[in-house]
Amino acid sequence: MGISIQVLHGPNLNLLGVREPEVYGKETLADVDEMVRREAKSLGVEVDCFQSNIEGELVDALHAARESRQGVVINPGALTHYSIALRDAISGIGLPCVEVHLSNVHARESFRHHSVIAPVCLGQIAGFSLYSYILGLRAVVHHLRGADCA
Ligand code: DQA
Repeated sequence: MGISIQVLHGPNLNLLGVREPEVYGKETLADVDEMVRREAKSLGVEVDCFQSNIEGELVDALHAARESRQGVVINPGALTHYSIALRDAISGIGLPCVEVHLSNVHARESFRHHSVIAPVCLGQIAGFSLYSYILGLRAVVHHLRGADCA
C-alpha cells in the first residue's frame, strides 16, 4: 500500500497572499497546495490538502485521516496556541504528525511561542515560509519510510 498524507491548514490560512504579506508572504494557499502536490509526486506519495476556519472541521478531518492516511502535516494557525481539542485529536488518531508554520513563531509575540500541539507531534518546523510545508512533508515521509538518512 502506498503512503497517503493529510495536509491540514487552520484558521485564516485561506487569506494567504492577502493577509499580512510582510509576515506570511505573497503566495496564496493555492500556491502552497500546488507546491505540496508537486513535492508529494516527486516523493512518490499521495497527498490531500484541506483548509478550515472551524476547529471542529479540523478535528473531523483528523478523525477521517485515521482511516485513510498514514501521516499528517498540519499548520494549525492560531489554534496552535490553545486548542486542546486539536491536540487530543492528533494524539487520539495515533498517526505521525508534523506541525508547520510559515513564520518563525518563536521570533514573534510571546503568545505565539507556546504550542499545545507540538508535544503530540514528531516535531515542529517554523520560519521557512512555504518551504516549511515541504520540510514537513519530507519529514513525515522520512519517518514513515524508516530512519535512514538517504
Ligand atoms: C502561523 C502562526 C500562528 O501564530 C498564526 O496564528 C497563524 C499562522 C504560521 O504559519 O506562521 O495563523 O501558524
